Formats: sequence, C-alpha cells, structure tokens
Amino acid sequence: MTNGTPFETVTLTTLYRDRYLFQELLDEAKNIALKANEGKTVIYTSWGSEWRPFGLPRKKRLIESVILDEGIKSKIIVDVQDFLRSGNWYFKRGIPYRRGYLLYGPPGSGKTSFIQSLAGYLDYNICILNLSENNLTDDRLNHLMNNIPERSLLLLEDIDAAFNKRSQTSEKGFSSGVTFSGLLNALDGVASAEECITFMTTNHPEKLDPALLRPGRVDFKVLIDNASPYQIQQMFLKFYENETEKCELFLKRIQELNITKISTAQLQGLFVYNKRDPANAIKMVATLKHSL
Ligand SMILES: Nc1ncnc2c1ncn2[C@@H]1O[C@H](COP(=O)(O)OP(=O)(O)OP(=O)(O)O)[C@@H](O)[C@H]1O
Ligand SMILES: [Mg+2]
Repeated sequence: MTNGTPFETVTLTTLYRDRYLFQELLDEAKNIALKANEGKTVIYTSWGSEWRPFGLPRKKRLIESVILDEGIKSKIIVDVQDFLRSGNWYFKRGIPYRRGYLLYGPPGSGKTSFIQSLAGYLDYNICILNLSENNLTDDRLNHLMNNIPERSLLLLEDIDAAFNKRSQTSEKGFSSGVTFSGLLNALDGVASAEECITFMTTNHPEKLDPALLRPGRVDFKVLIDNASPYQIQQMFLKFYENETEKCELFLKRIQELNITKISTAQLQGLFVYNKRDPANAIKMVATLKHSL
C-alpha cells in the first residue's frame, strides 16, 4: 500500500456456484466506503515515504465561497478540466501527462483556500507536501511524488521557503535533505501514465529559481492579489446579503481612506467581527489601515 493505511487480510471461501456473492460483497463494501467520503476532501500528508490521511476527511469547501478577482477562478477551472480531458492527446504525443500551477501573491489572498475548494469541486483529494520538513530526502520526495493516491492534487506550499531557509542556515545545518535539483528531478520524474496535477504556492515568486518555472514544471502561473474593488464588493455581499447600499458606502469609505492593499483574509476578519452589523463594519474601515 502506498498510502500507509493499515490493512488486514480476511480469507473467505464459498462453493463455486455461489461465487457471485463475492462480487456483491465487494461492490457493497466499495459503495459504503465511497459514501463515507462523499462530499468530503481527504487531506494526505507525507509519512516517511508514504502518504497518510491527515485527520478525518473534511467537508468540501464550496468553490463559490472563495472570491477571487473577476475571471480568475473560471480561467483555472477551464484549464484543469481541459487537462483532465486530454489524456489521449498527451499519450499520443509522448508528453508526460502532468500540469503544474503556481499561485503567487500576498498572504491571505485565498491561494490555499482556492486549491482546497477546487479539489472539492473536481471531487479530488489533496496531498500536501512541506518541502522544508525534517527527514525529507531526495529519494523520499521522488517516491512520494511518484506514488500519489488516485484522484489527488499535489500541493507544494510556500515553495520558496524550503530553499531560502537552506541557504540561510546551511552552516548550522539544515534538517531537510531535499536539494533543489532533487525537487526538479522529482517534478520531471512524475511522468507515469497517471495524470498528475501539481499546485505550488508562494508569497515570493521573485525568489524562485527560473529553472523551477519553466514549462513542464510550472505551466500556468496566476497572481492571486490583494482584494480588488470587485472582490471587496463580493466579500461584503457574501457576509451581508442584499445590503447593496451599505456595500456602496463601504467601498466609498475604503476609497476615501485610500486603502489599496487589503487582503481578503483581513476583510473576512472584519466581517466576522461584525457578523450582524454591517454599519459597524463601515465604521471600522479605518482599522484596516492600521492592521496593514
Ligand atoms: N479570496 C478569498 N475568498 C474567500 N475567503 C478568503 C479569500 N482569501 C482569504 N480568505 C480567507 O482568509 C483565510 C486565509 O486564506 P488562505 O489561507 O487561503 O490564504 P493564502 O493566500 O493561502 O495565504 P498564505 O500566502 O499566507 O498561505 C481563510 O480563512 C480564507 O477563508
Ligand atoms: Mg496558503
């Protein structure tokens, strides 16, 4: 087993003429297992060189609940769905059937949330790998990346951090054994017949080595930025349904105070604080300026 789930062996016997019972039994067991995870996303993390489910499957995050700037979500969804339909196209041309996405931008802009909701939308699970983790070696990384559970997105978070940290602390010793070339090789090696979708996130795209960004490793780069006026409006209306007039006031106030860099996470914080009080959220706009 590649995902490390404990397993038991049970031997069943029956008369030859009743052997159809096994098929029925297996079908039923499979359906029960699938039902248990219906509407859920399984998060896998690495455990040595294996993938293991991390906690219980989580309720899917609705894709509508993540608010990105106009058109960005559909651009990514269309691209992923097109990729998922193109297995034969890749196969015929001898191209590894993989696609890499890089979501970059400031903290709290919804990168991780979007990837989680996308997994739910596609009915996929997620394998999260932290490259700066202790004990990870090039070999293990390679093994993990070539044994991703079926129907899973691979998520490499904060892709810049692993290698920056290494150069800064190399004298004191860096606990992760993954090298940059090890990562490139592992990415290139994911060339099995199975499809592989990799998402990487970073707050610092400028720190990334261009070798990582070349097509075949990263095929699709998207900036997920601080909230645009469109997103501010959508976020406001998500929390305060039908309050279009107050929404206008809120936007106006933001403009007056010349607040340009505000993350969707900050907006969420303000709206959660004022759960049932949009008027007070408007009064508190100035506090956003101080929390920058
Ligand atoms: N665009 C968004 N739409 C809806 N909720 C958002 C959005 N951006 C952030 N949030 C909320 O803010 C919190 C943090 O978001 P998330 O972890 O997705 O940000 P991130 O871009 O991955 O940040 P980091 O770069 O620090 O990892 C979450 O609770 C999420 O629900
Ligand atoms: Mg994140």
